[in-house]
Amino acid sequence: MLSDKVSIHGAWASRWVFILAATGSAVGLGNIWKFPYMTGMYGGGAFVMMYLVCIFLIGLPIMLAETLIGRRGRQSPINSLKTLAVESGAAPRWSWAALMGMLAALLILSFYSVVAGWSLDYIVNMGRGQFAGVSAEGAGGAFATLTADPWRLVLWHTLFMLLTGFVIARGVVAGLERSLRIMMPLLFVLLLVLLGYSMTTGYFMQGFHFLFDFQPGKLLDGMLAAMGHAFFTLSVGVGSIMVYGAYMPRNASIGSTVLAVGILDTLVALTAGLALFPIVFAAGLDVGEGPGLMFVTLPVAFGNVAFGQVMGTLFFILVLVAAWTSSISMLEPMVAYLVERTRLSRAWVTAGLAFICWFVGLGTVFSFNLWKQAKFFVNEGGVFHLYQWDAASGLTFFGVIDFLTSRIMLPLGCLAFVVFAGWVMGRETVRDELAMGNARLFAVTFFLMRYVAPLGILIVFAAQLWA
Ligand code: PFF
Repeated sequence: MLSDKVSIHGAWASRWVFILAATGSAVGLGNIWKFPYMTGMYGGGAFVMMYLVCIFLIGLPIMLAETLIGRRGRQSPINSLKTLAVESGAAPRWSWAALMGMLAALLILSFYSVVAGWSLDYIVNMGRGQFAGVSAEGAGGAFATLTADPWRLVLWHTLFMLLTGFVIARGVVAGLERSLRIMMPLLFVLLLVLLGYSMTTGYFMQGFHFLFDFQPGKLLDGMLAAMGHAFFTLSVGVGSIMVYGAYMPRNASIGSTVLAVGILDTLVALTAGLALFPIVFAAGLDVGEGPGLMFVTLPVAFGNVAFGQVMGTLFFILVLVAAWTSSISMLEPMVAYLVERTRLSRAWVTAGLAFICWFVGLGTVFSFNLWKQAKFFVNEGGVFHLYQWDAASGLTFFGVIDFLTSRIMLPLGCLAFVVFAGWVMGRETVRDELAMGNARLFAVTFFLMRYVAPLGILIVFAAQLWA
């Protein structure tokens, strides 16, 4: 039987390592940077509610689908889908969905590395005390100076890509498993230290109410954003979870494992919010700052509270570690595929792919400075231009990659994977692989995978394209 095979790339020592790896993938800039600022922008509690509903009803069924496809196929996402499609009598073309997802992962990595690189810059400058007593203008200026300097950005982007490539090149057990065993506990400890610290600011309850008080008026506003974010934060739709599933031990229960990952990811996002908002309130700043929350508001906050220099430096180390464990999961699916497909060694494949992502990432670097005026998909007074220099509307290169991945490729990948598990693999195969024990629980899970998740994705997909 297929599922008794072992992946040629290696296997996690236990299901705990899968939990570490999948949580490492899921917990990243999405949790620490994006979730708090989106919560701020969409008014707090109502957004958090929608986010939770989306994670549990749509995101987790997709994650379950990916994990079970990976574990049954035991190969890179493309080859797993191909093998399972043939096993179920379906077209091997299903593997194209995995190819698209894996390309999306590489595109995401190209800009993720640039943003993660900013955290490297902040670790250094926070550590040197550059933000001590800084004003909002000062912090805004420091961020603007950083993003306006292409070579400083290229330096950090290069360093971060090297860090990512280094772990992947060493392989599943010696590289990924070993580093995850160190980085994940570190991440949790740092997060708890920050949480403990935010409790001492005297603004903890204000932060708590902001996150959890429900304001129905804002519910609809944040709904689509919450759904889109649920995919991104769980790393689904790109094959990362699938390839990690391929390294999972045979006897581990997939259902409870995936649930654990979903709960951990959610807890980290909520804890990040609980740790950050009180600090922002303590410094008397605006929570609705948007993407600048982490790089502008937080340095002001840390620069003006007691022990801010140490706490701020720890915070950006936390961001770095979280981004690092996510970025390795973006590179792994394609590396695994090329190792299966070619005769090249893992190290060479990693070097080649990391170089390509690095190169594409230069476009994101330049989107903040040299190419700031280069706009794509410009709509000027009803006239559409594919490209225009210095237009008032339109997307930068980074905007295009972000839109393409998070609004188009990710939802499509999610849809394909969950439909594959729910409709193509067949109920019996899924039941066998999930081995849930409780028939009613399986029925509910399968219903979510078959109907609720695909419908939810279609709604997000359609609404986001037209929004
Ligand atoms: N889940 C990551 C985050 O929340 O930052 C982002 C991510 C990781 C997306 C891995 C896609 C991926 F393959």
